[in-house]
Amino acid sequence: MTTIDQYDFSGKKALVRVDFNVPLNNNFEITDDTRIRAAVPTIRKILNDGGSVILMSHLGRPKGGPEEKYSLKHLLPTLRETFQTTIKFSPDCVGAEALELATGLQPGEILLLENLRFHKEEEKGDQIFAEKLSLLGDVYVNDAFGTAHRAHASTAIVADYFPHDKVCGTVMQSELENAQKVLQYADRPFTAIMGGAKISDKIQVIEQLLDRVDNLIIGGGMSYTFAKAQGGTIGNSLLEEDKLQFTLDLLKKAEEKGVKIYLPSDTVIADAFDNNANRDVVTSGTIPDGWMGLDIGPETRATFAEVVRNSKTVLWNGPMGVFEFENFAIGTKAIAEAVVEATKSGAYSLIGGGDSAAAVTQMGHAHDVSYVSTGGGALLEYMEGKQLPGVLALQFEESPL
Ligand code: 3PG
Repeated sequence: MTTIDQYDFSGKKALVRVDFNVPLNNNFEITDDTRIRAAVPTIRKILNDGGSVILMSHLGRPKGGPEEKYSLKHLLPTLRETFQTTIKFSPDCVGAEALELATGLQPGEILLLENLRFHKEEEKGDQIFAEKLSLLGDVYVNDAFGTAHRAHASTAIVADYFPHDKVCGTVMQSELENAQKVLQYADRPFTAIMGGAKISDKIQVIEQLLDRVDNLIIGGGMSYTFAKAQGGTIGNSLLEEDKLQFTLDLLKKAEEKGVKIYLPSDTVIADAFDNNANRDVVTSGTIPDGWMGLDIGPETRATFAEVVRNSKTVLWNGPMGVFEFENFAIGTKAIAEAVVEATKSGAYSLIGGGDSAAAVTQMGHAHDVSYVSTGGGALLEYMEGKQLPGVLALQFEESPL
């Protein structure tokens, strides 16, 4: 793979796939610009070399045609402020206007293309669409780790049109290096913290991790299925009926492999899915009818935090409760603080993308952990041991990874 530092972009137009799938509020303002800030080094390197940049990304999941709320033009103010250079915008990512704007681009300038997913061909991995995109640049750079698990036209197929000029961006490179640190070079004890709503999203990664970790902490919505499988009552808490047996098998497998599993011993319950609902704390598996578990309890917070603080490698993916509700964010905050403490004592900590990354960032701890991934699904798939199409496409036939 060619890394960004190995390529001289002088006089080149770089077609750069970024993952600018950022959250916007109702006024189309960016509420978390982590993914944009992450791509700055790649873009700056190209501009500083004397090249120009054509940025392409998806935003949200439009239905294959233009939708105002998913327009990338909403990102222009932030991009202009960040780069302080001319940033042009093409209202279509392919076609005559895009081609004309790309052709006229001067060194040091940036062209932002409209949302790739306004064309259904993008997600289909359509070759003709990929070829149209390829006409815009002289060199292809993929810096969209967050979308590297998708075999889309802009993430994978387009690379075929740049057999000698395809480059791995800085975000992509550091994401892969940091994931490798956890997968291959983890110091022990190694603790994985898995949270979030659904077991089904994490089954494969949990199974992979059983061969690597010393401790597996399970919290969040998915822990109630474990409590139910062990004979507890969980009221109206999240339940995946079809995963009850899986949880029991997992506990058995963990025991056979010598992995210590930590499940919540108490839970904060609520009588409605609402930040202002009535609250109580009960022992796990004793949730009354009409109530639901929305966070880990104080005893669990202390136990989990202790395990994390004593770890040398920590991987965290998924919140411990409904952290969007302030009253049920305490467990997630406690884990974030424990991860920060472990990091300060020399542990390596990788925070998986999505909600746990958002939690750490919102708490102002993004720089107090070793690495916050920009990838949600992509990181999980990489951790599952899968080959990511976006990464494969950057490799040269003669030099497989
Ligand atoms: C993400 O936010 O995880 C990536 O941008 C991928 O988005 P997608 O799940 O809509 O493909």
